[in-house]
Amino acid sequence: MAYSSIRDLDLKGKRVFIRVDFNVPLQKNDKGDMEITSDKRIKASLPTIQYALDHGAGVILASHLGRPKGKPNPEMSLKPAAERLQQLLGRPVKMAPDCIGPDVEAMQPAPGEVLLLENLRYHLEEEKNDPEFARKLASLCDVYVNDAFGSAHRAHASTEGMIRFVPVAGAGLLMEQELKYLGMAVTNPARPCVAILGGAKVSDKIEVIQNLGKVVDKLLIGGAMAYTFLKAQGKPTGKSLVEEDKVDLAKNLLASLGAKLMLPSDHVVVSEIAPGAANEVVETIPESKIGVDIGPKTIEAFSKVIAGAKTVIWNGPMGIFEKPPFDKGTVALAKAVADSGATSVVGGGDSEKAIKAAGVTSRITHVSTGGGASLEFLAGIQLPGVAALNR
Ligand code: 3PG
Repeated sequence: MAYSSIRDLDLKGKRVFIRVDFNVPLQKNDKGDMEITSDKRIKASLPTIQYALDHGAGVILASHLGRPKGKPNPEMSLKPAAERLQQLLGRPVKMAPDCIGPDVEAMQPAPGEVLLLENLRYHLEEEKNDPEFARKLASLCDVYVNDAFGSAHRAHASTEGMIRFVPVAGAGLLMEQELKYLGMAVTNPARPCVAILGGAKVSDKIEVIQNLGKVVDKLLIGGAMAYTFLKAQGKPTGKSLVEEDKVDLAKNLLASLGAKLMLPSDHVVVSEIAPGAANEVVETIPESKIGVDIGPKTIEAFSKVIAGAKTVIWNGPMGIFEKPPFDKGTVALAKAVADSGATSVVGGGDSEKAIKAAGVTSRITHVSTGGGASLEFLAGIQLPGVAALNR
């Protein structure tokens, strides 16, 4: 990789702008205030922030939150993130009223101080990658650090454009870690390398299947996307979710991947998807039934392959895991991945929830903070935020 690391940069006495991804889930509490429901992304950025502070920087943090469409929206303010960060860092975090303009310029942090800018997407120019807006952001700092892997698939002013206007730029520690593990998984994995892909739609993961198909030794497919493949094999899928317009594509993928591709051999089916609905395990899906999870034989077969792996890449659940008991397949595979002792790289919000539900998060080598970004990376797509650092 051609980019510099924050560890290569002189930060002492400098104003260091760190693009973080504080796009965290929020919900309104009883008092009507917005509360963070997962601070994982804030925690993940702590090593880089702490590193900059320890090396004498005045730290300016910037992020988007939600999609406010270019207008200030108090429900998408980064204030709750500033409060949480202050607790986690154990030092004051000043909140700026905006991300550009004279009021922000007047708040420049001295070495050891932390300033969080308000939501970048309160300005349409952020998503438009407007050069003038990018230049204004760049004028706030001496050094630019991108630690927002979760936003690296966006060519926005703060992730891509402003790099042209800053004297020095580098990757933060989280960005480096993400690129190291995801990069290793798709370019130079310890073998056998096994990918597990799930989720509802083949259409979301075509490029991922094609790209990983070139790298991995086995590709295990579960979740509703498996039904499109079963249909392509001419097998009955009942009323399961099938993307009819992707059946031909699935046929081509089956032909090109051959024995690398493993599909479920049994299924948990229901008559309707409702809480407490009666379910059964079948090998052939009856006409009136809907597949909602992989069955025990599939769990066993997939787990055996995972047990022999040295690298596992996982994205997407094996069934409707948010509706127990249809989480059995996903949870069983999460345990199999943890037990395998393989280097394991998990991406995507749902797979992360599944490893949490299985209680195995601490035994997974790397859980990506990027949903869309990790999928694009696995698909072999050059991320604009990373490409800009390389330039
Ligand atoms: C994410 O949560 O995937 C990133 O923060 C990017 O957010 P976006 O999809 O709104 O650009």
